[in-house]
Amino acid sequence: MEQLNIDELTPRMIVRELDKYIIGQNDAKKSVSVALRNRVRRQKLSDDLKRDVIPKNILMMGPTGVGKTEIARRLAELARAPFVKVEATRFTEVGYVGKNVDSMIRELVDTGINMVKQEKMREVEEKARYMVEERILDYLVPGAHPKQQQPKNIFELFQGPQTQRISPEESEQQKSKREQYRERLRKGDLDQLDVEIEVEEQTQSMVSIPGMEDMGIDMSSMLGGILPKKVKKKRMTVSEAKKALLPVESEKLLDMDKVVSEAIDRVENRGIVFIDEIDKVTSRSGLHGPDVSREGVQRDLLPIIEGTTINTKYGPVRTDFILFVAAGAFSAVKPSDLIPELQGRFPIRVELSALNEEDFYRILTEPKNAITRQYTALLDTEGVLVEFTDDGIREIAQIAFSLNERIENIGARRLHTVVERVLEDLSFEAPEVADEVVINKAYVDDKIKDVVDDQDLSTYIL
Ligand SMILES: Nc1ncnc2c1ncn2[C@@H]1O[C@H](COP(=O)(O)OP(=O)(O)OP(=O)(O)O)[C@@H](O)[C@H]1O
Ligand SMILES: [Mg+2]
Repeated sequence: MEQLNIDELTPRMIVRELDKYIIGQNDAKKSVSVALRNRVRRQKLSDDLKRDVIPKNILMMGPTGVGKTEIARRLAELARAPFVKVEATRFTEVGYVGKNVDSMIRELVDTGINMVKQEKMREVEEKARYMVEERILDYLVPGAHPKQQQPKNIFELFQGPQTQRISPEESEQQKSKREQYRERLRKGDLDQLDVEIEVEEQTQSMVSIPGMEDMGIDMSSMLGGILPKKVKKKRMTVSEAKKALLPVESEKLLDMDKVVSEAIDRVENRGIVFIDEIDKVTSRSGLHGPDVSREGVQRDLLPIIEGTTINTKYGPVRTDFILFVAAGAFSAVKPSDLIPELQGRFPIRVELSALNEEDFYRILTEPKNAITRQYTALLDTEGVLVEFTDDGIREIAQIAFSLNERIENIGARRLHTVVERVLEDLSFEAPEVADEVVINKAYVDDKIKDVVDDQDLSTYIL
């Protein structure tokens, strides 16, 4: 996705960006774009007002495979916001075996840390590249580095180096040699040379106590200070060394305290948590028994969504301003079956509509990474030129739609199984096949009609 500055994105622009990937579902796009923009608006408020403006969480309802997850995923990408997607069914009530709900905030923080770290590392990249060069030059042109001319002990400090006194001329010579090497190194002339480089390895802590992570305690960082860092000498080529040392040197230049505080700030103010399958932890009112634990999960979710502090290994994180997007098919249950407090926390409700044949046609052709384009690119790697004709694509859309009606409606996911089947033979034969294949209506029918017509067969295959 393009690098756009989120603070300058108007809701209309956000929708336009989402349009590049998702067909239809305009109401949903509109709601999420407003929620995102409100976030930016809120950043500009005075502190005391800020505290009272709470993000309007969104509940997305709609049949399976119509774009709920896809919208949230693209939105987060666009916002460059820390984002996690969790399945509500993954959680169990506190006290039961399984993940408890706090873990989603910890995952969000991990995402945030990674994100900020990547950004900061890009900022220091130039400097880090220089440090990498220095280390490789130290190996290739030893003795020419100022560090190595520093006094080794107290005697040298007063009397100068005892063994090898370097005359000013010699030192000049070495310096210029080093600079010559630097130039050749930059040009890549030395890439194939072998070097021996010391690489610090992060000692992986062997100690891991189940549940510790869930409590926000990180054993490896607790022991990190105690366990010595392993330094290993490794032989590699210069070009490998450049790659291996860059992250090491970049990380040395990072101020981790700053990274952490910036990441936590970003998580608290911009984080997006997508809770999928929320309907699966919803029970029909009046039904009890095995459903108590589902309600338990909802009760556990509540404080996080209302705003609480979660302890993570990077410190406490406030959840008050995190944006929560919940989604579910809500076919057997209704949003009103959620516990009332939770209903109140998702004031924005959007319904995504089922997709029709025309939508399918558009999904096959319009999005940036449309399925037809994916397959064309895949087969292109084998030198096979695949062309989908318009009537071929219409036929695929029509077949997918009627299968959804006849067997089970799995939304746009049906397109994947149908296209896969249509291209199965070709994918198999591609390496041997001639250079050009046209996928028209006749081709599609030939590959798939018999399966489609056989009710039993299509249940299994398509
Ligand atoms: N409106 C759409 N436009 C483009 N692609 C879509 C659309 N709807 C679904 N798809 C594609 O179909 C697949 C499934 O969509 P998605 O994961 O968003 O479904 P969902 O609505 O979250 O379903 P579920 O309720 O089962 O989680 C994805 O590959 C997605 O790209
Ligand atoms: Mg989904």
